[in-house]
Amino acid sequence: PLAATGALVAEATAAHTAVAAFNVITLEHIEAVVAGAEAADAPVILQISENAVRYRYGRLLPLARAAAATAEASRVPVALHLDHVQSDELLRQAADAGFSSVMYDAARLPYDENLAATRAAAEWGHANGLWVEAELGEVGGKDGAAPLDAHAPGARTDPGEAMAYVTDSGVDALAVAIGSSHAMTTRTAALDHDLLKRLSEGLGVPLVLHGSSGVSDDELTAAVRGGIAKVNVGTALNIAMTGAIREFLAAHPDAVDSRKYLSVGREAMVRTVTELVQVMRR
Ligand code: G3H
Ligand code: ZN
Repeated sequence: PLAATGALVAEATAAHTAVAAFNVITLEHIEAVVAGAEAADAPVILQISENAVRYRYGRLLPLARAAAATAEASRVPVALHLDHVQSDELLRQAADAGFSSVMYDAARLPYDENLAATRAAAEWGHANGLWVEAELGEVGGKDGAAPLDAHAPGARTDPGEAMAYVTDSGVDALAVAIGSSHAMTTRTAALDHDLLKRLSEGLGVPLVLHGSSGVSDDELTAAVRGGIAKVNVGTALNIAMTGAIREFLAAHPDAVDSRKYLSVGREAMVRTVTELVQVMRR
């Protein structure tokens, strides 16, 4: 059934686990995430990023409705989350499109501007029944950008700044920059567990890990034990899907029916989802 992100994250926090949130681009991604979560018998979050909306010719509703319909038919609770929103116009579509939560991304802005924009987004979101996540300190590698230098200013979340930011913005959860980076294709990120400890002890809101495809199972387990309650995964699904399709087409150069290779890609994503969901809960 359709669930609310805030409730899933609260349950995960209480159980000292995390809820996995997977970025979806196609219907096959949506089906694979739900099937993978069903196989693990665990709740899951389907998230659609502003980038994915751009890929869908700028339209949110076709993919959002597919996600909502798949969530409603699922055997496990599934929440819908709008991810990395920079556009106020897209933010305003969230509630009506079936989302229970949004991640408002003003992390590229200087602190004061990030705070002001995020506070306004959180106020609007709360007035419209949404759970609002924001980001402070920038997780690199967005939009094809090179990963940020882990030691560059802004590449890590400052605990003192984060405390003020959460209080003053009123957000429900914080995405923290602790060493992961978006769009990594190797699981080699080294997380700053001391920083995570300080953030999780001081903040009083659930913490979110972005760029989790680049984080190994053991590092993910440690991050969840250290207070991460929502784990965002995108690239790992594409690695699984594209690798499986590439292999299938190499072995079947005469294949033409798209179902033949899309189903192989989908099954590879199902396995990835099941494995990662299990890591969040161990
Ligand atoms: O918000 C989405 C995630 O941060 C996904 O990052 O594609 O590197 O796993 P990833
Ligand atoms: Zn992200």
